[in-house]
Amino acid sequence: MKLSIIGSGYVGLVTGACLANVDQHVTCLDIDEKKINKLRNGIIPIYEPGLEGLIKEKVASSSLTFSSNISETVKNTDVIFIAVGTPTNKENDSADLSQVYSCAEEIAKNIKNNTIVILKSTVPVGTCDKIEEIINLSNPSINFDVVSNPEFLREGSAIFDFENPDRIIIGTKEKNSISTLNSIYKKQIKNNFPVIFTTRRSSELIKYASNSMLAMRIIFINEIADLCEKVGANVEDISLGIGLDKRIGPDFLNAGPGFGGSCFPKDARALVESGKSYNAPQNLLKAVIDGNEKRKENLSKRIIEVAKNRKNIGVLGVTYKANTDDIREAPSLSIIPDLINKGFNVSIYDPQASRDGIKEFEEANWESDIYSVAKKSDCLVILTEWSEIISMDLKKISDIMTQPIIIDFRNLFSLDSFKKLNIEYHSIGRETINSHKEVE
Ligand code: UGA
Repeated sequence: MKLSIIGSGYVGLVTGACLANVDQHVTCLDIDEKKINKLRNGIIPIYEPGLEGLIKEKVASSSLTFSSNISETVKNTDVIFIAVGTPTNKENDSADLSQVYSCAEEIAKNIKNNTIVILKSTVPVGTCDKIEEIINLSNPSINFDVVSNPEFLREGSAIFDFENPDRIIIGTKEKNSISTLNSIYKKQIKNNFPVIFTTRRSSELIKYASNSMLAMRIIFINEIADLCEKVGANVEDISLGIGLDKRIGPDFLNAGPGFGGSCFPKDARALVESGKSYNAPQNLLKAVIDGNEKRKENLSKRIIEVAKNRKNIGVLGVTYKANTDDIREAPSLSIIPDLINKGFNVSIYDPQASRDGIKEFEEANWESDIYSVAKKSDCLVILTEWSEIISMDLKKISDIMTQPIIIDFRNLFSLDSFKKLNIEYHSIGRETINSHKEVE
């Protein structure tokens, strides 16, 4: 069976490499010729653990190829995945489906009989129906099926998630498509991961509802953390205490600087917009989005309050989470420019984030490791839970800095770690340790 994937971004590349790993022949496509040429030469445009090695291995065994010739490839493909971006529209908060529809047009012109088109991109309810309409208009006599099969890959552990999914959701009613999908996911099915067959509309909505539910949990625990700080409670104990209730569960209850990335904020906004257009308001989700935005804005106020007259702030981690180079909608994008505008000198270290072309960080000073940042700072702010930051030598930090302060927005350290150290330690929803009285 020949598979092709339109869109060689994060989802397309991970899906392509993982499918090529189970005896399929996969072509990853993109209109960006430069990107395709780089991929052919083994240059992977994103940082995702394990991806570069897997792509190189599958290219070497000829099960994975790259092309920018979408029309020719589509003509020779049995199954076409659409994995292009659906960013937030410029005019409103709905999903911009222009890339999805231009794929549909391209497919419509070149599709052969009995092709299955699988939509991986995150899209509002009814998008598969529209794709079907577009193909039918150009090719009324052809036999094909459009299937919804959303992705649930987390950046940083995408290959693991692809191979060990909590579930695979497939929206189709066509018998032929069901057997093809079963064959595509044969490895996961053999390993007993659940596959849910449903309607296309339910499948499209499952994706938005999943991301939105997770986003709600995060903003909920973040607001509980705020209350913990006021009343002297500990948010980690609250997460443990509520998470042990099987109906709640322990995951996604880590308080932090607010959610970011290319998915939660965009998908939550799009679901609110869908609710508006169908007159089914998503009020809870609207509050989640507003709460998250305010949280990101307020973090710099908190830093300024703690830093008092210290002027040199070191930021450890700028990506929206660990194990990715992605900074889209990261809390750092609002915190760093705000500190700079208020007259602070900001030094940054991040193990993977690109330092080029990001206007928000232009006036900050990049360092090559944690301790070089510490040397230039009198207050360290932790924004990302990189393992390198978790394992940093706190004793060394306290030797390098005079009256050091750490503001840890990821609760990376136990409060006990600071008992014998002269470091003032602030975290989220927990007591402050070793308050320094005055700056010398
Ligand atoms: C998310 C979903 O988890 C995936 O299932 C989904 O496929 C993906 O979006 C997508 O739609 O493509 P991702 O954006 O990679 O994946 O990141 P997550 O690990 O879910 O984290 C999202 C944000 O929540 C991050 O900013 C993270 O720091 C934050 N977070 C997560 C917390 O603040 N606390 C937690 O307990 C967990």
